[in-house]
Amino acid sequence: FRRLGLRGMKQRLLVVANRLPVSANRRGEDHWSLEISAGGLVSALLGVKDVDAKWIGWAGVNVPDEIGQRALTRALAEKRCIPVFLDEEIVHQYYNGYCNNILWPLFHYLGLPQEDRLATTRNFESQFNAYKRANQMFADVVYQHYQEGDVIWCHDYHLMFLPKCLKDHNINMKVGWFLHTPFPSSEIYRTLPSRSELLRSVLCADLVGFHTYDYARHFVSACTRILGLEGTPEGVEDQGRLTRVAAFPIGIDSERFKRALEITAVKRHINELTHRFAGRKVMLGVDRLDMIKGIPQKILAFEKFLEENPDWNDKVVLLQIAVPTRTDVPEYQKLTSQVHEIVGRINGRFGTLTAVPIHHLDRSLDFHALCALYAVTDVALVTSLRDGMNLVSYEYVACQGSKKGVLILSEFAGAAQSLGAGAILVNPWNITEVADSIRHALTMLPDEREKRHRHNYAHVTTHTAQDWAETFVCELNETVAEAQLRTRQ
Ligand code: G6P
Repeated sequence: FRRLGLRGMKQRLLVVANRLPVSANRRGEDHWSLEISAGGLVSALLGVKDVDAKWIGWAGVNVPDEIGQRALTRALAEKRCIPVFLDEEIVHQYYNGYCNNILWPLFHYLGLPQEDRLATTRNFESQFNAYKRANQMFADVVYQHYQEGDVIWCHDYHLMFLPKCLKDHNINMKVGWFLHTPFPSSEIYRTLPSRSELLRSVLCADLVGFHTYDYARHFVSACTRILGLEGTPEGVEDQGRLTRVAAFPIGIDSERFKRALEITAVKRHINELTHRFAGRKVMLGVDRLDMIKGIPQKILAFEKFLEENPDWNDKVVLLQIAVPTRTDVPEYQKLTSQVHEIVGRINGRFGTLTAVPIHHLDRSLDFHALCALYAVTDVALVTSLRDGMNLVSYEYVACQGSKKGVLILSEFAGAAQSLGAGAILVNPWNITEVADSIRHALTMLPDEREKRHRHNYAHVTTHTAQDWAETFVCELNETVAEAQLRTRQ
């Protein structure tokens, strides 16, 4: 019954996320082109089908003029998207500042910014105010489109203040909030100056969801330790009102990947790649160029592997697709130079006149090119230092139906809890361990590869994005219905 909940239902769903699933590029005064945005949230939600959903969010671009805003609104409407227009200053303070320089590193255990503490504290206040203003702007757009009975599903760390804005406006709105990153241990979270205000706002939602049970537990502990509230097996209670807290592990639309592999152009591309790398094992990394992804550590582990296994030097290649992201944030700019420096050094050290060990690309690939690459890969390296879930690991498994390649996976990615039995789990900080795992993966016997792959494939193909969304929305409906019942009693 639960699984039938969303398909064909009359209820409308308003998905609210900082980033729309498409990013806009201006091609003329009133002409826009749209392309798919990068990131886990987008790839998961693109896998949700048959739902009467509209998506409210930022199109990733500053549009100061009305003509441009009207034209973009029209173009987005065809994709069932509704834009929130944020000006440059607010993007700088809210998105680059509070979201990406404060919440993102903190939630991934990298702590608050260290340098120039006083300046950071001053910036912190103005950035937090901008964060609240921006959340209010998202809320204003929700109010304009809301109809009674709609489910409002708020996503991610950008919008922790949104549940409060919505409930202050209309207490009867059905509001869910889902975090796509880890929620850190309360000992880390409590360093955040605005810790209580954000927790109280999230608790205004009816249902709060996380990828793993651990993240949910950390959140409940933060509420009990910082706010002094009561944690129950159901969630968090404040003066008789329960906010339900639970784990909803996300998935992908694995069929979409399997179908892509049947397309003639993709098959041709697979053949080209196979031919291009004949005689060498292919290892692959696909990450946004983000410090949480552990790209420098991964490349250093590969270097150690090459150092210790000279017989493999011309028999293996690492393809690292590093998708540029948040390029206005100085930390990300530094990371780009750091990665380039390491790749250059290793290629100089181990390259020959005809081949280099690392192909590093600073760009994204289109969906079909990515599927072809996943399909020809012998070993995928997902070595995030922390990651909410990491859907690249799922996508790789979905494309390995015939090859049965090996997945090396960080134990600090949420995916380790679902793909742990099939993957080789590693501590990404331990370069020796990762180098040893690379050798293990490259030399693994077919029987072991087959067994590991079978486990992961079964999980990825049965725990889909569709199931995730259905379960969350059904649980939200039930939670609200139960609360109404309690009030009437
Ligand atoms: C992660 C976050 C998403 C975000 C994505 C891309 O997956 O959880 O909310 O959209 O990264 O980052 P960006 O800053 O480009 O939206």
